[in-house]
Amino acid sequence: MALAVIYSRGRAGIDAPLVTVEVHVANGLPALSIVGLPEAAVKESKDRVRGAILNSRFEFPAQRITINLAPADLPKEGGRFDLAIALGILAASGQIPTAGLDRYECIGELSLGGELRPISGVLPVAIQARNNARKLLLPRENTAEAALVDGIEIIPASHLLEVCAHLSGQSLIQPQFQQPLQNTRTDSIDFADVHGQYHVKRAFEIAAAGGHNLLMLGPPGTGKSMLAARLPTILPLLSEKQAQESAAIASISDQGLDVTNWLKPPYRAPHHTASAAALVGGGGNPRPGEISLAHNGALFLDELPEFDRKVLEVLREPLETGHITISRASRQADFPARFQLIAAMNPCPCGYLGDVSGRCHCTSEQVMRYRARVSGPLLDRIDMHLEVPRVPHEVLRKGSPEGEESSATIRARVEAARNIAVTRGGKANAALTAKEVKQFCPLSEQGHQLLEQAMDKFGLSNRAYHRILKLARTIADLANSEPIEITHLSEAIGYRKLDRSVK
Ligand SMILES: Nc1ncnc2c1ncn2[C@@H]1O[C@H](COP(=O)(O)OP(=O)(O)OP(=O)(O)O)[C@@H](O)[C@H]1O
Ligand SMILES: [Mg+2]
Repeated sequence: MALAVIYSRGRAGIDAPLVTVEVHVANGLPALSIVGLPEAAVKESKDRVRGAILNSRFEFPAQRITINLAPADLPKEGGRFDLAIALGILAASGQIPTAGLDRYECIGELSLGGELRPISGVLPVAIQARNNARKLLLPRENTAEAALVDGIEIIPASHLLEVCAHLSGQSLIQPQFQQPLQNTRTDSIDFADVHGQYHVKRAFEIAAAGGHNLLMLGPPGTGKSMLAARLPTILPLLSEKQAQESAAIASISDQGLDVTNWLKPPYRAPHHTASAAALVGGGGNPRPGEISLAHNGALFLDELPEFDRKVLEVLREPLETGHITISRASRQADFPARFQLIAAMNPCPCGYLGDVSGRCHCTSEQVMRYRARVSGPLLDRIDMHLEVPRVPHEVLRKGSPEGEESSATIRARVEAARNIAVTRGGKANAALTAKEVKQFCPLSEQGHQLLEQAMDKFGLSNRAYHRILKLARTIADLANSEPIEITHLSEAIGYRKLDRSVK
C-alpha cells in the first residue's frame, strides 16, 4: 500500500473543518514534500515528524513521500497535523495497518522524541468528530476538554508509539467518554461586601436577570469597580448549549479553555489600553477578542472614556447583532459576541462632579468634552445609566443594620426571573427581537401614553423605546407579574438618565 488517508481537523473561526491528510509513498530519490498551502508551521512539522518516527524506532521511508493536506484553500496552522502526517507515513509505508484508520480523526503536535503535545481549539474538533461518528485520537493533556462533548469516544495518548500499538492492536488504549460536569460555585467575593448603594444593587439585579447593559457614573472610590466585579456572582449559570458555544471560543483563543466551572458565564474585564484587535479579535487567521470571549456573559469596561474612541465605536455592531465579522485581506471570520456590557466612568475629568464635597471645579465645557468621548450611539445602546454617589461614613463602616444581602439571595431572585423569560421567549429579555418585543411586552393604554411622553420629553430614540420595553419586561418578571405595570415601566424609563443630561 503506497497511499494512506488520515482524517484531521483545521481551524477556521470557531469551526473545525475536516482536513484530509493524504500520504503517497513512491519509488524515487528520497524526498518529502507537503502540498496544500501549508504555512511555515506545517513545513516545520516535516522535521518534527521525521524525528518522531526515527526516535520511535520506526523506519523513515527512503522514498519520495508526497503529503497533501486537502482542501488546499483552507488556512492551516500550527503543529496540529503532526500526528496525522506521521500516521499517514507509517501506514503508507506498511509499518502500521491501514484497515480501520477511517474510523478515527487524529490531532496533535509531535516532539522530536515522539511525545504528543497538546494543541489549542480541541473542543470544536471534538464536536465535529462526534457529529461524524469517528473516534478522536488526541494528546492526553487535551482529554478533559474533549470530554465535555456528549457522545464522544476519545483515544488519548502520550506518545506516537502508544498510538501505533493501539492501531496495530498490540496494546489497546482505554477509550474515554464524556465526563460528568462539575458545577460548584466558588466565589471569593460577594455583594454583601458592598455597604449601602442599594439602588445600584437593585440595578445590577435587573441587569443580571435580563442581560441588560449598564453604565455607572460616580466619583472615585464609591465602589463602582467593586460592584462590577461582583456581577458574576449573581449571573445565572449557562445552559449546556450556551456553555459549549462559549467554551468553543475560549478553546481557540490564546488563553485556552479552563474546563472547571464551565457552566459559569464568562466575565471579561479588559484594560482601557487594550487594542482594537484584542477587544474585537483579529490576526492572520483571526482569533476571537474580548467581546467574543465574553459571549453569553459580561464585558466590563472600567474607566470607559479612557478607551480609544475608535475601539469603542467598533462595539456598536456586536451590541446590536450579537456577533462580529472580522475581515482580513484574504480571510474572513465571524465570531459570536452576544455579551452584556457593564461600564463605569467618572462624571467629569476631575471625577468629583456632583459630589457632596463640592471640590469639582471642572467647567461645563470640560465636562462635555470628557463625556463626548463616549458617543451618543454607544450610549443609546446602554439600557441603564446609574449614578453611584459616595455612601455616608456611617453606612460604609457598619453597613445595613439588618446585614447586607448576599449574592446567593440576589441570585435566587435573578434565576427565578430569568426562568420566566426563558420559558416565555427562549432567551434573556435583552436578546428579544423587535417582533418578540411587540409580542411579549404589551403595555396598557396608560403605559403607552407614559412612554410616549418620555420619548418626547427626553428625545429618546426608537432604539431606546425598544430597550425600555425589554427592561420593563425584566422588572415585571422580577416582580413575577405577567402584565407590565406602570411602576415597572417608570422604573425602566428612570434608568435612561444620560439621554437627558448629556447633550
Ligand atoms: N459601598 C462600599 N462598601 C464597602 N466598601 C466600599 C464601598 N465603596 C467603596 N468601598 C471601598 O473603596 C474601595 C474603592 O472602591 P472602587 O475601586 O470600587 O471605587 P471606584 O468607584 O471604582 O473608583 P474609581 O472611580 O476611582 O475607579 C473598595 O475597594 C472598597 O474597599
Ligand atoms: Mg474603579
